[in-house]
Amino acid sequence: MDTAALKKELVDLVASANDMTTLENVRVEALGKKGRITDLMKTLGGMSPEERKTAGAELNVLKDEIAALIEKQASQLKAQEMDARLAAETLDVTLTTRPERKGSIHPISQAIDEMVSIFADMGFSIAEGPDLEDDFHNFTALNFPLGHPAREMHDTFYLPNDERQEGEAQKKLLRTHTSTVQIRHMLKNKPPIKIICFGRVYRSDYDMTHTPVFHQMEGLVIDKSTHMGHLKGCLMDFVRSYFEIDDLPARFRPSFFPFTEPSAEMDIGCTRKEGGLQVGKGDSWLEVLGCGMVHPNVIRNCGLDPEEYQGFAFGMGIERLAMLKYGIPDLRTFFEADTRWLSHYGFDPLDRPNRATK
Ligand code: DAH
Repeated sequence: MDTAALKKELVDLVASANDMTTLENVRVEALGKKGRITDLMKTLGGMSPEERKTAGAELNVLKDEIAALIEKQASQLKAQEMDARLAAETLDVTLTTRPERKGSIHPISQAIDEMVSIFADMGFSIAEGPDLEDDFHNFTALNFPLGHPAREMHDTFYLPNDERQEGEAQKKLLRTHTSTVQIRHMLKNKPPIKIICFGRVYRSDYDMTHTPVFHQMEGLVIDKSTHMGHLKGCLMDFVRSYFEIDDLPARFRPSFFPFTEPSAEMDIGCTRKEGGLQVGKGDSWLEVLGCGMVHPNVIRNCGLDPEEYQGFAFGMGIERLAMLKYGIPDLRTFFEADTRWLSHYGFDPLDRPNRATK
């Protein structure tokens, strides 16, 4: 039995295997069930015990050596394959874009970017909270007591009861407004607080002006001296920057929210003609957001002393403000992912959102 000659032959075969398929064929030829080494193993039975001892040992060594060589060759081939792929898949980032392939920024993202840049210029930072909430953060802590009629107005999506849930306050739901983030933020941070938060909210409702998921932008300012005048100034500056109309008229109407006292709704000037609507100085008014001075109960529920701290909050629907600014007539189209709609109402990804005017 000439193991040396066989070894040389197999070593050459492994070395010349230039791809994984050839290498696999070599493995089968050498080590497979009917392979060359396996065949030789089968002849051991016919040998004398002495011969078998040396030949058996030699074959085992050969088998291990060849197996190791095949493994080494395989990892080299894989590395080469990866190098070739990396070289082939390089992107020339200096190539000009192809207009027909360009994506666009969704009007909701665009509106968020614009709002964030205006509030950031005023010194607000961004806070976040989860979409999946509990009764405490969505209602109770915001001064909606159990059984309060304002709860009914939210068309809440509740989750099935959880065995671990001990009381009403832990009942899981999809947040119906971003005001939950006021609570989360105040529980974790000491005043002064000056934050905005944006995100998805959920209500069981569907028609021209309601979808079960939509977006809100929330704001909260808490310190020792912020008053209603600051609220009015902040929101007037905001709507004027957002709509890019320096003399945009605005008014505040008394309203009710459980978590603010006093509460107000803000209207901006507009003109309505032939079913159309134009924002700006005009003979009509349009509601754009809710706001008010944070209710002392809410401040207390977050572990702060309402004798020491006060401030304002506001909340607005992002789709509504996007529809008004960009002239989009139907809310439902925002969520249909129709590429023709997106290319018509979408924004150039390289555009910069507008900034606060002052
Ligand atoms: N959370 C209210 C809603 O969804 C909007 C709102 C009103 C938020 C007044 C506020 C606020 O922070 O002060 O209808």
